[in-house]
Amino acid sequence: MSILGVGIIGCGGIVLQNHLPGLALCGDVRVAGLCDSDERTLERARTETGCSFVTTQYAELLAREDIHAVIIATPNMLHFPIAMAAIAADKHVLCEKPIAMNAVDALVLARSADVARVRHMTAFTYLFVPAMRYLKHLVGQGDLGEPRHYRSCRLQDWGTRDLGWRMVKKFAGTGEIGDMLSHRINFAQHIVGPMTRLVANVKTLTPIRGGKPNDTDDWVAIIADFRNGATGVLESSKLASGRNESWRSLDYVEVNGSEGSFEFTTGKWNELQYGRLGGPGMTVLPVPREFWVWPGSNRNLGVGDPLVSFRYDQAVEFINAIREQRPCSVTFHEGAAAQTVMDAALESAQSGRWIDL
Ligand SMILES: NC(=O)c1ccc[n+]([C@@H]2O[C@H](COP(=O)([O-])OP(=O)(O)OC[C@H]3O[C@@H](n4cnc5c(N)ncnc54)[C@H](O)[C@@H]3O)[C@@H](O)[C@H]2O)c1
Repeated sequence: MSILGVGIIGCGGIVLQNHLPGLALCGDVRVAGLCDSDERTLERARTETGCSFVTTQYAELLAREDIHAVIIATPNMLHFPIAMAAIAADKHVLCEKPIAMNAVDALVLARSADVARVRHMTAFTYLFVPAMRYLKHLVGQGDLGEPRHYRSCRLQDWGTRDLGWRMVKKFAGTGEIGDMLSHRINFAQHIVGPMTRLVANVKTLTPIRGGKPNDTDDWVAIIADFRNGATGVLESSKLASGRNESWRSLDYVEVNGSEGSFEFTTGKWNELQYGRLGGPGMTVLPVPREFWVWPGSNRNLGVGDPLVSFRYDQAVEFINAIREQRPCSVTFHEGAAAQTVMDAALESAQSGRWIDL
């Protein structure tokens, strides 16, 4: 296949922000179909891409032979059924997180994609931050020594505004757990390894948002044990008043090991903080240039804000994995592993007990 046809299912905010600019960096790729249930959103995406095939029915898009791969970016409850239909139609799939509404479905998805031999990828976008990739590299080569503690803190101010489908459990599954914590769970598993047990609490402190009912969590905290003996503390909130949103708000990860500590914040895409055992404290560790762009991406750092544009490397990785007939760097298996922890966090919060993983 020389020209790779990509279909987009769900053409809302994240598609415009991340996926379309990412696809635009890929050679020999054509956006060959767009699907959204909302006509106005569909029209906006058609204007943006010039794509001639648009539909409100995803089955029509999946039936097309000129579409070889799909990006699924609908509300969460549709990820599993659409991804299963895409796999059955022999399409490669990049699916937004969380990839399903529970871990059982997420595992079914991962196994089905393997059996069908299609490429599959979970949109854990923040693994594409250059500083996160460098952190993984440094931990992998032993610079941390034995990992002891993992700590993540994601604090945003979303106030009490209406969050649309995101504040309806039957559409979103969870609130902050799926929105923000899922990425930080993935970081933890990526950097430190699998967790063995956890205890968690969740709160819905804004039962009304924008005058409408909210039945999803807006704060969550987890204490976890990792298989390698490390501990983890993960907290995420939409209610940190005054902290602003997205990359202007706190997104902090720290890993402490027997030889030193590293600190990562998404807002500082090309630096880490590093401190060595017995040293003078944390100091800036610049990320070397070879980590600034994802391998195989021709993204030009001189174009746009690198704090935004690292996200484009995600679609590039998906397309390159298809072309090179190799697994994507972040598969549905990582999506399912994170979902297992999300489910356990909810179970722990409901039961008040530690949950084994
Ligand atoms: N990876 C990241 O960093 C990141 C960031 C933001 C959002 N997300 C994820 O992306 C997904 C979409 O989020 P968003 O912010 O773009 O939401 P959004 O509401 O802006 O977009 C979702 C779109 O799906 C459409 N849709 C609803 N039902 C549909 C159906 N049956 N068929 C086709 N389209 C349908 C809606 O009309 C809407 O346009 C969510 O799962 C979210 O968790 C991921």
